[in-house]
Amino acid sequence: MALSVPQHDPLSVAAVGNAFVDRVYAKLSPVYDLVFGAALQAGRVAAVARMNIQPGDHVLEVGVGTGINTSLYPRDCRVSAVDLSAPMLEKARERVEREGLTHVRLFEMDAAHLTFRDDSFDCVYAPYLMSVVPDPVKVAREMYRVCRPAGRLVILNHFRSPNPILSCIEQALSPFTVHVGFKADLDLPGFLEKSGLRPAGVERVNYPPIWSLVTVVKR
Ligand SMILES: C[S@@+](CC[C@H](N)C(=O)[O-])C[C@H]1O[C@@H](n2cnc3c(N)ncnc32)[C@H](O)[C@@H]1O
Repeated sequence: MALSVPQHDPLSVAAVGNAFVDRVYAKLSPVYDLVFGAALQAGRVAAVARMNIQPGDHVLEVGVGTGINTSLYPRDCRVSAVDLSAPMLEKARERVEREGLTHVRLFEMDAAHLTFRDDSFDCVYAPYLMSVVPDPVKVAREMYRVCRPAGRLVILNHFRSPNPILSCIEQALSPFTVHVGFKADLDLPGFLEKSGLRPAGVERVNYPPIWSLVTVVKR
């Protein structure tokens, strides 16, 4: 059983491992765009605007999934994009080839163990990833490490509501929502504190606006 009482992940009541996540996304890959495509697209568009990508910039997307963001990047930047799930990456490869996105390169890689050097990227972006991974703090630290000083980290995610009633509902639902790919109750203040991230901005995005777009500038 992949779920357990919180021990190593107190930011959520649900704990998952990579093998569990991999199995969930293998099943989701054929329907992912249909279920999570248009519904979450406004947040993706807002995030790419916040990334402030300049010509020649090197962008890292962490948790690229089916490559649904890849057509949003300007053609005059370079994009490296990673994902844990081979079936999701296969969909991304098909999309990149179909749309002729020659500025996008795809890698199978665990976000908690990025194989890139320190300070490699101008911008590091995690769209709808943090509530999927077993250890979001480790992933955030890796993203920070590979981002160059004064570069941007952009995190797009649903976090636990500050409203106590909604927060209780999200915590009650989280052990079930992991089976469809995400924890519903990731704690944003705790996540930022443990990751050592100081956001330059936190905006609400999507409809209803219950997702957050967190922008951090690396010191
Ligand atoms: C909710 S989907 C987001 C896909 C896409 N970024 C989007 O905007 O819809 C989460 C993705 O993160 C990937 N993922 C989960 N754990 C990961 C990890 N440890 N390292 C890299 N990717 C991971 C999953 O395979 C899945 O493709």
